Amino acid sequence: MVLPEDPSMELLRDLLSGGGPDEELFRSAHLKLLEEMGGRVYLRGLVEISNICRKNCFYCGLRRDNTSIDRYSMRPMEIMGSLRRGYRQGLRSFLLQSGELLGEEHIEMVAGILRKCSSSMPGARMVLSLGELPEEIYDRLRKAGGHRYLLRIETSSPELYSRFHPDDPLHSHSSRLRALEYLRDSGWQTGTGVLIGLPGQTAADLAADILFMKRMDMDMVGMGPYIESPDTPLLDRADEILPAETRTLLTLRMIALTRLALTGVNIAATTALQTLSGSGLERGLLAGANVVMPNLTPGRYRESYSLYTGKTSVGDTPSEMMDALRDRCLAIGRELILSDPGDPPHYRERRGRGGYPDDNR
Ligand code: 5AD
Ligand code: SF4
Repeated sequence: MVLPEDPSMELLRDLLSGGGPDEELFRSAHLKLLEEMGGRVYLRGLVEISNICRKNCFYCGLRRDNTSIDRYSMRPMEIMGSLRRGYRQGLRSFLLQSGELLGEEHIEMVAGILRKCSSSMPGARMVLSLGELPEEIYDRLRKAGGHRYLLRIETSSPELYSRFHPDDPLHSHSSRLRALEYLRDSGWQTGTGVLIGLPGQTAADLAADILFMKRMDMDMVGMGPYIESPDTPLLDRADEILPAETRTLLTLRMIALTRLALTGVNIAATTALQTLSGSGLERGLLAGANVVMPNLTPGRYRESYSLYTGKTSVGDTPSEMMDALRDRCLAIGRELILSDPGDPPHYRERRGRGGYPDDNR
């Protein structure tokens, strides 16, 4: 299957709704990945630094109004401990994730971690996923040593977005879009992604999401299936939720079509995909994904970072995790890469095109 460089919305929609042979689609996407970037699988060590969030998204277990989870913020020492354990295992890229928190204390704590990593963990790429923050804070975090930022648009459709978020200025689709554009244009390696299989979401919505990520010139993509989460308003619509295998297949088609439609981008086989399907890791990688995010969050916090039910992880200690991942990649003919942060070629290419400020790093 050869997808035109600028696939039409209609073609993407038909392939997403299962109108084509899936195996051929996945094989083509995998082949494009191998030709473009090789069979390497890059790692991002994930540390979930706080589960406190000021937002109230209808699908998410960390939403502000959910009083049934224990809230935590890791102390800087604990975060550095988790990062160093990963670094010793050979990881060279780390993702700090939290709910959306604006407090100066939180931001300065993250900046402090970034500065420490710059000086004590040479070669490490620091990735942040801390939600929508004021532009000057994005700048501050970049100067402190941040390299990449992930901000999922969740859905590119403002109308669909409004169905899954409260109707207030805190949950504005256009502000989220502006934040993403700012990140992209201010030097960050920038990633976005969407939720797949939300009740009422159509194949046309998802097709538009792929075209959105292409138009937005993204360097990285992380998208996963929607998974039921207890104590969230969306569960009131449980009868509209698609079967798990349908959501898995939709996610794999999204990965494959994104791989085919975009060039030189990193695409993650996300935890949500691995949670919904036992072989989600392998299936994601074989559909064109090239990034996996082993969880380095200390065990005592893991359960409280409950975005959704049943969140899976591979192995308990970093070394068990790395062994399991290496074996699973090898079994499908792919190579797990340590000691290389795996910058997406798209980032270099887009900077080469100009129009973005110089990075100096
Ligand atoms: N299922 C799957 N992913 C979810 N997220 C939040 N809630 C859920 C859910 N119920 C994702 C969102 C967010 C990321 C941190 O987690 O896309 O951006
Ligand atoms: Fe907060 Fe993100 Fe969950 Fe929304 S999806 S409630 S912003 S953690």
